[in-house]
Amino acid sequence: MKEKYHIVTYGCQMNLHESEKIAGILTRMGYTHTDALEKADIIVFNTCCIRENAENHAFGNIGALKKLKKEKPQLIIAVGGCMTQEVGKPELLEKKFPFIDIIFGALNFDDLESLILRKKAQKKKVVEVRQEAGEIVETTKPFRTSYPNAWVNITYGCDNFCSYCIVPYVRGRERSRKPEHIIAEVQSLVKEGYKEITLLGQNVNSYGKNGAANMNFAQLLDAVASIEGKFRLRFMTSHPKDFTEDVVAVMEKHRKICRLVHLPVQSGSNTVLQAMNRRYTREKYLDEIRMLKSRLPEAEVTSDIIVGFPGETEADYLQTESLVKEVDFASAFTFVYSPRQGTKAAEMDGQIPEDIQKDRIMRLVELVNSLTRKKSEKYVGKTIEILCEGFDEKKGMYLGRDEFGRMGYFKADENAIGRFVSLKITKANGISLYGEIVAME
Ligand code: SAH
Ligand code: SF4
Ligand code: F3S
Repeated sequence: MKEKYHIVTYGCQMNLHESEKIAGILTRMGYTHTDALEKADIIVFNTCCIRENAENHAFGNIGALKKLKKEKPQLIIAVGGCMTQEVGKPELLEKKFPFIDIIFGALNFDDLESLILRKKAQKKKVVEVRQEAGEIVETTKPFRTSYPNAWVNITYGCDNFCSYCIVPYVRGRERSRKPEHIIAEVQSLVKEGYKEITLLGQNVNSYGKNGAANMNFAQLLDAVASIEGKFRLRFMTSHPKDFTEDVVAVMEKHRKICRLVHLPVQSGSNTVLQAMNRRYTREKYLDEIRMLKSRLPEAEVTSDIIVGFPGETEADYLQTESLVKEVDFASAFTFVYSPRQGTKAAEMDGQIPEDIQKDRIMRLVELVNSLTRKKSEKYVGKTIEILCEGFDEKKGMYLGRDEFGRMGYFKADENAIGRFVSLKITKANGISLYGEIVAME
């Protein structure tokens, strides 16, 4: 019988995609996937360290495996991802959880096959975390589980050093994939029937800036959108310091590019933005929104927002509230600032007490939800195009998203997954929409 693998992923879309690549390596080695942790012969934790709770989550789940490992000593437990890239973390993991078999990093997950073979040949645990990113590996083929959506990396790493953020320390310097590799990957995904492609990078707008590519982001986007076939194209994340009109011009040219830009603002206060080292102002951000909407009036914007950054006053926080109202985001991820070891902000004066942080996040979540709800209500009576992504067993309905990321549920007599469905919206419930099929492609 074939050996089975189970992967536990934390963190962002980039990490989810990296787990697909880890699954690709394991599949190539002859493993098959299992949903049941107890049935696995190898369990891989692909960790995140963006906030403290992401780390606590992983620590809890790894610790919970102690008993299983005792009962099943041949089980291989491997821990990788962003957390193991942090200074001192591999040592801490070894000490806390001596039963871990393999510790690897986000920068050398492509070597997992050889690390597993080494572990199988020896009793001793294998600890190998590379500090410097090597050449981009193009030979690791992902085992994709997100049909009809597919993620495609365009850059790795980050050079921005926002003062709160650990990503540049754990993911290394920014590297761009070659345009020919990206274009060939998207071409074959479209041929295989994928219907939504998302280009991934910490700051997609700086694509090619390190000289590795002979194109900038707008040119790359144009080239990818020119690939024939019906599919949706998304990109994330855009950084407001680099979001330019040439990208919007390319969006205007190609209808297959979704009219949704994820443009994290983080704060509405110039004082806080400066302390965050974001390198744009509130005014520049609002100008960009105006520019986008003047060329594409139907465009929507989503965001990431942090509250409780060191030194944030009530007046600063209220500036964030007023910006949220002014932009009228389609939705936003909201976070409480979490100090990360080694970052500038963790050393700053004026760390905000937890009760104030909690109060601000609650007010902000309420505001963001009220905007999202209001937008949902406007959908009722309209017909929208949904790309069906799955079936919700509990509701007994298919579900999918429109180009703005809004979730729509509907009933269908035939398998709708992977198809574009025109849906007449009959009801909005919070952020979810319900509708009836008008047509299906
Ligand atoms: N590269 C992207 C985002 C990467 S991390 C960008 O620049 O926007 C995703 C989000 O996590 C960030 O946008 C930020 O809002 C949040 N985040 C990052 N570090 C954080 C920290 N230390 N505490 C709280 N939130 C954080
Ligand atoms: Fe972190 Fe800033 Fe880089 Fe985003 S751009 S990954 S927030 S350092
Ligand atoms: Fe992503 Fe978390 Fe790493 S957000 S890049 S998995 S630190």
